[in-house]
Amino acid sequence: MKSFFSLLSCDFLICRLSPLFYMLLLTGFALQQCTSPEVGHWKEAEKEAFSEELMIVSSHPLAVEAGLEIYERGGNVFDAAVAVQFALAVVYPRAGNLGGGGFAIIRTEAGEIFAQDHREVAPGAAFREMYLDSLGQPIEGLSLRGHLASGVPGTVAGLIDIHEKFGQLQPFSILLEPAIQYASEGFRISATEAERLNRFLDQFIDANTRGNAFTAKTIWEEGDLLLQPELAKTLEAIATYGADGFYSGWVADSLKAEMERGNGIINYDDLKNYQPEWRKPISFQFNKFELHSMPPPSSGGVLLNQLFHLVEKEEICCEETWDTRSAHHLLEASRLGFALRADHLGDPESMMLSTGQLTSAIRLDSLWQLFDPHSAGDGLRYVEKDFTLPEAYETTHTSIADSRGNAISLTTTLNSNFGSKVVVGGAGFFMNNEMDDFSILPGLPNQFGLLGSEVNSVKPGRRMLSSMTPTIVEKEGDFYMAIGSPGGPTIISAVFQVLLRDFLFDLDLNDNISRPRFHQQAFPKATRIENEVFSEAVKEELKSRGHKMEVVDRMAVVKVVKKSAGGKLQGAGDKRNPDDHAAGIDLRK
Ligand code: GLY
Repeated sequence: MKSFFSLLSCDFLICRLSPLFYMLLLTGFALQQCTSPEVGHWKEAEKEAFSEELMIVSSHPLAVEAGLEIYERGGNVFDAAVAVQFALAVVYPRAGNLGGGGFAIIRTEAGEIFAQDHREVAPGAAFREMYLDSLGQPIEGLSLRGHLASGVPGTVAGLIDIHEKFGQLQPFSILLEPAIQYASEGFRISATEAERLNRFLDQFIDANTRGNAFTAKTIWEEGDLLLQPELAKTLEAIATYGADGFYSGWVADSLKAEMERGNGIINYDDLKNYQPEWRKPISFQFNKFELHSMPPPSSGGVLLNQLFHLVEKEEICCEETWDTRSAHHLLEASRLGFALRADHLGDPESMMLSTGQLTSAIRLDSLWQLFDPHSAGDGLRYVEKDFTLPEAYETTHTSIADSRGNAISLTTTLNSNFGSKVVVGGAGFFMNNEMDDFSILPGLPNQFGLLGSEVNSVKPGRRMLSSMTPTIVEKEGDFYMAIGSPGGPTIISAVFQVLLRDFLFDLDLNDNISRPRFHQQAFPKATRIENEVFSEAVKEELKSRGHKMEVVDRMAVVKVVKKSAGGKLQGAGDKRNPDDHAAGIDLRK
């Protein structure tokens, strides 16, 4: 990676500095100032850290710094999490957000577990056929790009709620200070962020009626300064007025005006009525571990529970790489879980079967009778269709824990990279395109190739089905691990495989999360693999059993805090995202 000093661009200095300074620049003082490290925030990413007291792992070093700063100022794990999330909305704009939603699993030091849902909801004016033409066919891209693609955002309400119930640092506005600073003073973008901004620049221009921070340049480079003054104003409104600063007042006016400019449907009532929900976590036992994960409207916890139940039916081997028998078993278990997901999961208000019914041993065991140990299944009832996965998904995750056993696992998303690509004019934040997570036409795959049923069709006030899997694991009653990931449906596979390798083989954490992974979601039939997940011999044997495999570049980006054998907290970020960062703090030393 280039050094920070070589990253500072003179064009920024020219547009911001005073005339006197500009003269100095011209008279030879320039060179030194052009390499001044004083403007713009920057921090190198570290993939591993250890601490006795507090550990944070998230998608961007500056977001992690925000959390550490808040802890140092007297905040707890939950204050730190809120500060990280607001900072991610600034420094990780492709997924960190104010205009999206997410889920959190929380553990308090008393051992209580909570699941918070701040998923977006369909606006009041949404309707089942809203993405179909007069012939009942889907209109290309309508649920993915532009103003109609957005659900009512839940992030701000969710974070405020977490602070009210679990935070200790007052006033709330302190938690937004780092984010406001990054937005108003700017930060230096990483190579990955520059690449993403360039890749989506045309779409930003198409989706927006006015310029914004992201269209300020025609080519972004590593080290460019990203200034977001409009976003800073929005964050200040939230800092001053709490949820009202976002869901009413001038920010709501801007959002409503943005919707009107782009024929969107989110209105004042939608914003005023948005509420996060506290739900009963999906909790279950595997060996000596107690897992707690997200219930519907996420599918993550149900799938994890089903997969761990089905794993118990086979001796899974081996530590180095899966053998054919184990690989076949795991792939078929996943196929079954995802087929059930397609049929039965959605907003809990609309589900016909309860999560208890869907994870019951009787149901799973009876369905498992269709398992053929020698041949790949067909998703039980779905026919195979050609489908290629577009590289479009992005979400982000934060895991935090302290030595007392307080922990939070929080996944947040705009859905695709930069969501709907719409930036709210005057307020500077991206809106989500989460409406695509509904089954816009039951039976038609969404951007992830996922199928859904009527249970997940578009309905006002309904939450769209998700795959986000924030999870907390306990071992013999104590905190053991906080884990989660971005990556659409591959989240579930990644979280499952990292946990399985940890539980069965107690792998070194960094080694574990770096290992290649696979993903089988019933439809399409092909399993996506990171190339070396199976040996060549195993691949051949799987093919002879009817498995199809499609090699993908990278699959999900897991972030973990684990209590290591010596009692220290170990943080691990995934090398699949160069910006993943783990850092700890030991104030009590
Ligand atoms: N938007 C991706 C998910 O929630 O699974």
